[in-house]
Amino acid sequence: MHSQKCSYKINFMKKIITVGDFKIGKEEKKAISEVLVSGRLSEGLKTAEFERMWAEFIETRYCIATSSGSGALITALTALKYLYNLPSGTKVITSPLTYIADASSISAVSFEPVFVDVDPLTFGITPELIENHLKKTKDIKSYGIILPVDLIGYPVQIDKINKIAKKYGLLVVEDAAQAHGSVYQGKKCGSQALISIFSFYIAHNIQAGEMGAIVTNNPLLMKLCKQIKAQGRVCNCLVCTRAKGYCPNLLKFKDKIGDFDPRFTHELIGYNFKTMEFQAALGFTQLKKVKEIIKKRQRNIRYLNQKLNKYKDILQLPLYSEKVSYLSYPLVIKKPKVISRKFLREKLEENGIETRPLFGCIPTQQPAYSFLKNQYRNKLSNAEFIGTNGFYIGCHQYLSLTDLNYIVKVFKKILD
Ligand SMILES: Cc1ncc(COP(=O)(O)O)c(C=O)c1O
Repeated sequence: MHSQKCSYKINFMKKIITVGDFKIGKEEKKAISEVLVSGRLSEGLKTAEFERMWAEFIETRYCIATSSGSGALITALTALKYLYNLPSGTKVITSPLTYIADASSISAVSFEPVFVDVDPLTFGITPELIENHLKKTKDIKSYGIILPVDLIGYPVQIDKINKIAKKYGLLVVEDAAQAHGSVYQGKKCGSQALISIFSFYIAHNIQAGEMGAIVTNNPLLMKLCKQIKAQGRVCNCLVCTRAKGYCPNLLKFKDKIGDFDPRFTHELIGYNFKTMEFQAALGFTQLKKVKEIIKKRQRNIRYLNQKLNKYKDILQLPLYSEKVSYLSYPLVIKKPKVISRKFLREKLEENGIETRPLFGCIPTQQPAYSFLKNQYRNKLSNAEFIGTNGFYIGCHQYLSLTDLNYIVKVFKKILD
């Protein structure tokens, strides 16, 4: 971040422009104190309310809250594993250019990630590249799932991906962790796949500190996810978890198990990905402001694009669309020989502008997957180029016009 020994002089006051921010105002404090007053910390009514509101926002029948987006991914993949009897080693076609959680969750449930390249402007895997891959494979039976990612908020072409999945007998999980409220063909990201996930990590548009969610229209998957995230217990409904009685669905178990307690009777092997009331309560305060958050981020993207347009020969500026709920302001250096990402990021950081790399190409650039490096060498040219030359700065709702002008000034000083 901010370096004390800055050799690159800029003659104006330094600011700190963060990639994300979270302001704790009256509503947020009230939400947290309500949880404390209620005396219930682990998931309960606030979580149930958040689930109801998120399902309504995304327009799906069900939402299941989890402790993180990674937990949501692992839970969703495990639910598909159970429901469709997918064996270990099942191949999952996914994006190489994303946060590591997609690949690591696939590996965690003993599936195998298979990477296809991304679109250079919207950063997602494309229907064409998915189909090309499937056409060429000699082992179609080993494939089970397609897992596209709406990176930075850019929607993937989920209608076409669903069609390909149908043609080849595959299931679709959409990772909309970074696309809170992005719209594709009139529908919210996450509403069109069989099952989708979100993350409400602090840097995302709807923030809860740490929390995730799964959405689906399928009642069997909903039930499985509720169980899997709670160690596979027979029922995770509020009646059972509060031990105020047996929910009517469980009478069949009551006869089978003498001294029956639904909280300690486990039907499946699962995990603990339950959330806390604090997270749901905070998430809820942000969800109430979602329209404003999306609009302000779009306004910031438009403003920066307009002001930085003169650098478009050097920098690939983000595509603008009113349909995108932007996570950040992504940039890709077009001519790394003229200016390197390292140099530009260092200069921005020296001037108080936080940056993050655009995640990196998982099989060739992430050490955890170095065992795949040779297999994917020179096969994912867009993901590798963006992984090497892409980065982002903030576009969040707390940036003022003065902040935006400061960003423009710093770019001007560095690039002019
Ligand atoms: C695309 C994507 N998928 C999954 C995750 C995992 O979410 P979490 O950090 O909440 O576990 C993230 C987190 O940033 C993400 O960006």
